[in-house]
Amino acid sequence: MDIIFQTPRLFLRQFTEADAPLILELNSDPEIVKYVHEPTLKTAEQAEKIIKDIILPQYKKNLGRWAIHIKENNEFIGWCGLKYLPERDEIDLGYRLMQKAWGKGYATEAAKHTLDHGFKVLNLKLITGRAHIENIASIKVLEKIGMDFISEGIIDDCPVRTYTKSNHNS
Ligand SMILES: CC(C)(COP(=O)(O)OP(=O)(O)OC[C@H]1O[C@@H](n2cnc3c(N)ncnc32)[C@H](O)[C@@H]1OP(=O)(O)O)[C@@H](O)C(=O)NCCC(=O)NCCS
Repeated sequence: MDIIFQTPRLFLRQFTEADAPLILELNSDPEIVKYVHEPTLKTAEQAEKIIKDIILPQYKKNLGRWAIHIKENNEFIGWCGLKYLPERDEIDLGYRLMQKAWGKGYATEAAKHTLDHGFKVLNLKLITGRAHIENIASIKVLEKIGMDFISEGIIDDCPVRTYTKSNHNS
């Protein structure tokens, strides 16, 4: 298992092709994809395609969305990570958790350590986070991990708030 880093309660690892059932479980919940501009998944084949075409290619640049597990019991609770968006030439911080794991500070914990990993290990200069203006939980996560509010506007037909954080060591 390729572990990327650990936090006090969690560990984050690379997804593999065997994880399609986990991606299907996550992305088939309409509440989870409500604000993320993606359709709900219906089949294992769709989840396999996401892993092969979207998730695994990001790992070539040491970036990517990483599976989050609770250390105590190994339970999979979602993903967090950094994705390069060529269309905007930016590194995007993202996170997505199963509903059973919401409200426990896990997203904040994973996102904070993901920022640190991006700056200290990957030496990135700038990380961007975006959330739908009504996605209060996500906006709170971005603010709690210390990202700076930049603007509110329409991106890809969605009203979003944009936050960034720059690497103070560079
Ligand atoms: C966004 C998401 C990852 C947050 O996960 P989480 O584990 O609940 O986040 P945390 O517990 O770390 O913190 C969330 C904060 O938002 C608050 N919050 C959660 N839901 C809320 C809501 N509906 N309204 C207002 N505040 C809310 C929590 O109380 C907490 O703030 P606090 O520490 O001040 O109390 C989770 O809701 C999710 O996976 N949503 C679906 C996918 C998604 O939208 N991803 C983000 C795309 S930009």
